[in-house]
Amino acid sequence: FNLAVLISGRGSNLQAIQKNIESGILQNMAQIAVVISSKADAAGLTFAREHGLTAVICPAEKDVLAELVKYNIDLICLAGYMRIISPEFVQKYAGKIINIHPTLLPKYPGLHVHEKVLAAGEKESGCTVHYVDTGVDTGKIIAQRKVPVLPGDTPDTLAARVLEQEHILYSEVILSLCQK
Ligand code: GRF
Repeated sequence: FNLAVLISGRGSNLQAIQKNIESGILQNMAQIAVVISSKADAAGLTFAREHGLTAVICPAEKDVLAELVKYNIDLICLAGYMRIISPEFVQKYAGKIINIHPTLLPKYPGLHVHEKVLAAGEKESGCTVHYVDTGVDTGKIIAQRKVPVLPGDTPDTLAARVLEQEHILYSEVILSLCQK
């Protein structure tokens, strides 16, 4: 089961997926065929290269599409990928693009979400893996994991608590999709 992982930054979800491929629930189940970064300085690129993964920089979507056709990709995983995917891209890979978002969608799509969750006085938050459609964080929800919002939380403490669950959830969803 061939994955393409698209990143723009830190790449901690990329790392969690690769770790699960090397010695976790995705072992012998999936591999990362290519890591694509929209940014040349993404920290995730360094991790990818250190782990022997093919990693390329694709600033524009046409470059991404040109890269993807080189591999027999079963699933495209957006992992902190800060670009909107065009309708053409979504159509070309219909049902094969998923994203992870650090709230319980459909609540709080978009950016600066932890600030918004705290400002709204939510008692819980979490993360969502969903199919990507032409909207922003609007596609069909596949799975979620929840965390409590705790007294004294700042956007950073809440983000860290959610991120831990993201690292579990993304691989669980990939596993369930490659078993289909
Ligand atoms: C994660 O919180 C993810 O949900 C969001 O962007 C962040 C990416 O983090 N879409 P990382 O690059 O995987 O560390």
